[in-house]
Amino acid sequence: MQIGLLGYGTVGKGFYALAAEQPSLTVKTLLTRRPRGLACRETGDFADIARDPDIDVVVELIGGIHPAYEYISAALRAKKHVVTANKAVVCAYYRELVELAFQNGVCLRCTAAAGGGIPWLSSLGRVARMDRITAVEGILNGTTNYILSEMTARNAPYPELLKQAQQLGYAEADPTDDVEGYDARRKLVLSADLAFSALLQEGDIPCVGISRMTVADIAWARERGLVWKLNARAERRGDAVSAFVCPTLFPASTPEGQTNGSANRISLYAERIGKQSFSGAGAGGWPTASNVLADCLSIAGGAAPFYSDRPVEPLAVDNREGERTWLFRSYGRYAIRQETAAEAFEAYGAVSESDPTSLLAYLPYGML
Ligand code: HSE
Repeated sequence: MQIGLLGYGTVGKGFYALAAEQPSLTVKTLLTRRPRGLACRETGDFADIARDPDIDVVVELIGGIHPAYEYISAALRAKKHVVTANKAVVCAYYRELVELAFQNGVCLRCTAAAGGGIPWLSSLGRVARMDRITAVEGILNGTTNYILSEMTARNAPYPELLKQAQQLGYAEADPTDDVEGYDARRKLVLSADLAFSALLQEGDIPCVGISRMTVADIAWARERGLVWKLNARAERRGDAVSAFVCPTLFPASTPEGQTNGSANRISLYAERIGKQSFSGAGAGGWPTASNVLADCLSIAGGAAPFYSDRPVEPLAVDNREGERTWLFRSYGRYAIRQETAAEAFEAYGAVSESDPTSLLAYLPYGML
């Protein structure tokens, strides 16, 4: 199978090296802004890839929405399979890109877009074909998990840890997406869209990141045998989906509480098979490139156009049902409240106006 590779950053480089070890794969052309001196052909013009009849697969690793969207849709229209690690573009154009893949009889794969090196989306698609998935949730961002783990383990200051996460290649180009929870939310949207055949809008999902967390918050949790994680959750409730992203307190003894460093831990709940969890490296060049490679190999093995062939239906996000336990911190004081997610996020918004340093956290195990 001949590949047109778009981008030669951390993941692109890793993928290029991994593909060279596979007898069935050849990177024929690389789209790059500057010469890299590689054995393959290099070009600065995407048309050289789109118009090349020998290229079967376009691997998009440039990130961002534009021109990634234009490249991916042109490749699908040219009846080339597409593999991407780009959650932003798949999230924004999910329905259109999936439909283009079906219409053109080619594959769209984005396993590396959620969970780094974990075969999460491919496993989720496998279960979605045979069972009714009721919820997906997990630690979906390696950067914030690294920062929170290190804050817990060694009380290191937040800016130093963010810098380290960037140096280790975990963080997004703009780390705001990581620390404010937007990256985890995109991965949640992708997971929920696939799990529920839904079409969720990122902006409908309330989201709190970790940028307001302090050493006092870490100590508060430690005294109670709890640890902080940035958790993203979506559950089916009738014809709607309850979904939110929020710092979350897990007992230190739980699998989530023991998921440290840049690792992710993601679970699905389905009616017949129950709970299944997946954990492993959630970020970093080699793990992410490995999932890109796995997608190429599954296409070479004759994969279906997409993970699921169920029709996509727009489902509304509705957090007004079901009381849960929440922790509020404002003006340095902690308070536990029982309320729906809609009430909690609304109250947090109001509190934040008077105390911009306030914090909201979810307690899935209640107050132990
Ligand atoms: N910035 C992302 C993370 C990279 O930290 O999880 C993997 O998607």
